[in-house]
Amino acid sequence: MNKFLSKFDLNNKTALITGGAGLLGIEHAVALLDCGAHVVLTDISEAELKNAYEILLKDNDPKKISTHVMDVTSLASISKISDKLNKSNIRVDILVNNAAIDPKVSGDEGVLETSRLENFPLEQWNLQIAVGLTGAFLCSQVFGRNMAKSGQGGVILNIASDLSVFSPDQRLYRKEGLSEENQPVKPVTYSVIKAGLIGLTKYLATYWVDQGVRANTLSPGGVFNGQNDEFVQKLTELIPLGRMADNDEYHSAVQFLCSDASAYLNGQNIVMDGGRSVW
Ligand SMILES: NC(=O)c1ccc[n+]([C@@H]2O[C@H](COP(=O)([O-])OP(=O)(O)OC[C@H]3O[C@@H](n4cnc5c(N)ncnc54)[C@H](O)[C@@H]3O)[C@@H](O)[C@H]2O)c1
Repeated sequence: MNKFLSKFDLNNKTALITGGAGLLGIEHAVALLDCGAHVVLTDISEAELKNAYEILLKDNDPKKISTHVMDVTSLASISKISDKLNKSNIRVDILVNNAAIDPKVSGDEGVLETSRLENFPLEQWNLQIAVGLTGAFLCSQVFGRNMAKSGQGGVILNIASDLSVFSPDQRLYRKEGLSEENQPVKPVTYSVIKAGLIGLTKYLATYWVDQGVRANTLSPGGVFNGQNDEFVQKLTELIPLGRMADNDEYHSAVQFLCSDASAYLNGQNIVMDGGRSVW
């Protein structure tokens, strides 16, 4: 392997991904497997994990992949997986905090529009913060501490969103024919969680720095996943590159951020959004 590629080499490294059975979780796994990592795929959904495992098996050595049901909102659930891995002498070198609840924006006349700030249910606020932000804190607490203790260091990658750096453009979600108070919006939780992850990243970037633990954020722009034409057209008009991302377009960023290729990058938010945030 040449010197350039060796920086991306993750053979003998183990990467744990949260929310790993979702659209991007599987892609992060593909990216890290391609660099030789052993991947510990975790998710709250056993069925989706099974499905993700089947997909990954098509092109990868089964010995490189393990799956575990893990709820990032539960310290007990995270500790159980950590203990299991410790007992098998598996040290997590890379943690990808990816789990989140993507609140679906609906919009119906005559039905209280709960995505709107005025109506947003406290239970939804608590649940979404618990998964997207507290979950990243708890996983960093458990796996980051182990990285620091190991003497080998490690990498924490928090997955935020381009909405970590700007406000949602609520015009994207408008539905014709609905009254103002029934217009759906991107909920406040998304912005709060993604901005919060940047703060968490900066904190983590310095906290265990003497023990060799680095932390960065990746803020992806929207991935095309069959969204309706009207939404896609409105969104792509806001993106200088004129399109949404393909689901595999973050592979190289994940490989860079999780490997020694980014050894001197710490505490940063890499916004990969087709240029949307600079327009
Ligand atoms: N897809 C996009 O366009 C996009 C754009 C920017 C940022 N992101 C971010 O990327 C990350 C992944 O997004 P995605 O599109 O793959 O979402 P997704 O909904 O497909 O996947 C999220 C996964 O998290 C899991 N999950 C939910 N609650 C959990 C819990 N308590 N514990 C563990 N796992 C739990 C779900 O089961 C699901 O598999 C998210 O942080 C999202 O905000 C996505």
